[in-house]
Amino acid sequence: MIGIFRSLMLGLFLAVGAFAVDAVVTGTPAQAAGDVKKGKKVFAKCKACHKTVAGKKSVGPNLNGLFGRTAGTLAKFKYSKDMKAAGAKGLVWNEETLFTYLKNPKPFVGSFIGKKKAKTRMVFKGLKKEKDRANLIAYLKEATAK
Ligand code: HEC
Repeated sequence: MIGIFRSLMLGLFLAVGAFAVDAVVTGTPAQAAGDVKKGKKVFAKCKACHKTVAGKKSVGPNLNGLFGRTAGTLAKFKYSKDMKAAGAKGLVWNEETLFTYLKNPKPFVGSFIGKKKAKTRMVFKGLKKEKDRANLIAYLKEATAK
């Protein structure tokens, strides 16, 4: 009995260790390096509302220069109160924040401002597949570079 317990604990220890190493190497836990080409296809879901080329207007904020930008701060775009509040509380767009935001946008913004579900203006339910998000982020990194 004790033997089983010990080997179980050892297995758990090893699994956690591997996870930690993965997190250090990739920067984001359990997130494989994304595929830019596949990510471009995923972006079809965002295209109706977002442009990646600077200066172009759309329903959603222009995403040019997104990485490193504080949420809700693109000049002249009319954001929701909650998105601006999240920015004021320190939400900055990068691989990690986008990875979680794009899974389930409203609750993520909500978690930043202490609400269960934020009232943000983005009508998009989220991308549940980790792969899709990783690929999309790889694409966005290239496409939104200034
Ligand atoms: C139906 C239109 C629509 C779709 C589809 C959509 N968005 Fe948005 N998005 C918006 C709007 C509107 C906002 C502003 C939200 C607010 O102010 O609450 C926004 C905000 C954002 C922001 C925050 C930007 C900033 O300047 O703070 C990011 C990042 C983003 N969207 C990425 C995406 C990605 C990636 C997709 C595709 C997976 C997507 N969106 C799909 C309309 C959309």
